[in-house]
Amino acid sequence: MVGMTPPPGPSAPQLARLLTGWRSDGTSARALAERIGVLLEDGRLSAGRRLPAERVLAAELGVSRTTVTAAYGLLRDRGRLVSLQGSGSALALGAAPGDPGGGAPAVADLSKAIPPAWPALPEYVAVAAARLPEVLDAATLDYAGLTELREGLAARYTDRGLPTGPDHVLVTNGAQHGIGLVLHALLHRADRVVVDVPSYPHALDAFRAAGARTVPLAMPDARPDVAEWERVLARTRPEFAYLMPDFHNPTGSSLDEEERRRILRAAGAAGTVLIVDETSAELAIDPAAPHPPFAALAVGTGARVVTVGSVNKTVWHGLRIGWVRADPRTVAAIAAARPARDLGTPVLDQLVVAALLPDVQRVLADRAVQLRATRAAVLDRLRADLPDWRVPVPSGGLSIWAGLPEARSSLLVPAAAAVGVRIVAGPRFGVDGAFERNLRIPIGGAPAATAAAVGLLAEAWRRTAAGLHVPEAFAPVL
Ligand SMILES: Cc1ncc(COP(=O)(O)O)c(C=O)c1O
Repeated sequence: MVGMTPPPGPSAPQLARLLTGWRSDGTSARALAERIGVLLEDGRLSAGRRLPAERVLAAELGVSRTTVTAAYGLLRDRGRLVSLQGSGSALALGAAPGDPGGGAPAVADLSKAIPPAWPALPEYVAVAAARLPEVLDAATLDYAGLTELREGLAARYTDRGLPTGPDHVLVTNGAQHGIGLVLHALLHRADRVVVDVPSYPHALDAFRAAGARTVPLAMPDARPDVAEWERVLARTRPEFAYLMPDFHNPTGSSLDEEERRRILRAAGAAGTVLIVDETSAELAIDPAAPHPPFAALAVGTGARVVTVGSVNKTVWHGLRIGWVRADPRTVAAIAAARPARDLGTPVLDQLVVAALLPDVQRVLADRAVQLRATRAAVLDRLRADLPDWRVPVPSGGLSIWAGLPEARSSLLVPAAAAVGVRIVAGPRFGVDGAFERNLRIPIGGAPAATAAAVGLLAEAWRRTAAGLHVPEAFAPVL
């Protein structure tokens, strides 16, 4: 029992909305507990928040109170819920006492769209380590990052068609950190952020954490609806919009030049700051002339563009180096606000990236070969094993956004866990529970292993159809 009153979680109607479709597995307590577990594991419900009272949720779902009581009991047994003295139950992510982790051991992790480390990385780490003595005395605490790395990043933007100097660049601990710093410095509570959905879930998390109001725009045919962008920006003049012009996560879509210009003109006219996430922009799979950085087209539109980028998807996710590229005044404002959050980026890691930047074309060429092979292997397996799934072919990025013939994405997650595959349900990429008919399939891993995981996923999908997916003991989803 815990004494403190935790913050309220979703209301019963909100939770019922998030639970849409849970009945496809019958109305058992186990099915209900399992679906709440999925919502917690994938971040749609937050640990530490209260669940609605059993009686209220039962009434909302139209099931007996005994069902909800038993479901909460199962969650409690698995360490997913803790009782609070006199104030209900709060969600928790801890394991139950004596539980080593629960569920089937994962044999494949499709929950993250990340490629393995670029094999030549250790050579650059050695170069950076050898240079460390040079900077031991010279490097000062610098919120914007090492001048040498900022110059390198600026030169690369300039080469790609966007004239940039070091004072346009602030080095961060990854793109996610960059998004957080931008919001921290520029966004006021209750500002609106327009965003295509589906979207990158941790950006949605960051907007929520910053107190923003997210304005979702649907993507018909998994492509941004630029006419709708123009309408919404003109009508509501939102303070911010977030977009991924190239190799959108999760759809892999890319805007053409005219669409970019239209969004820039609309943002310029509305006074909307565009937060442009180009983390995956250079992960082209098919040969094509690359787009210049999105901000290169902003000239003359009046649009203010703040770009975030990173080497964590191209080189190695463990490097944790990213950046923000914006006008010098905005960069200075972000640097000035930064110390409330953190005091800068590790110098040795910055030296590694500075050493690597001149060879980044090699990294990208290797990535294209690897992603093409895994995309082909995954598409073959999907077409063979799940012929009724819709599988668009992305021309870049790290995932395939599959369309399911039935709204069973959240149901598939525990079924996949039972056969050893971790995956994230479609609704994690949206707001308010949409995308039960979608699943993101990462293609960053090795071809044979990823295809094998998709084979297991197909088996899990068949089990959901047969209502057979749940192992004998209720298994939490990891
Ligand atoms: C679109 C997008 N933006 C930002 C990030 C975060 O990148 P980083 O690892 O550099 O923080 C990711 C990583 O998954 C991403 O897909």
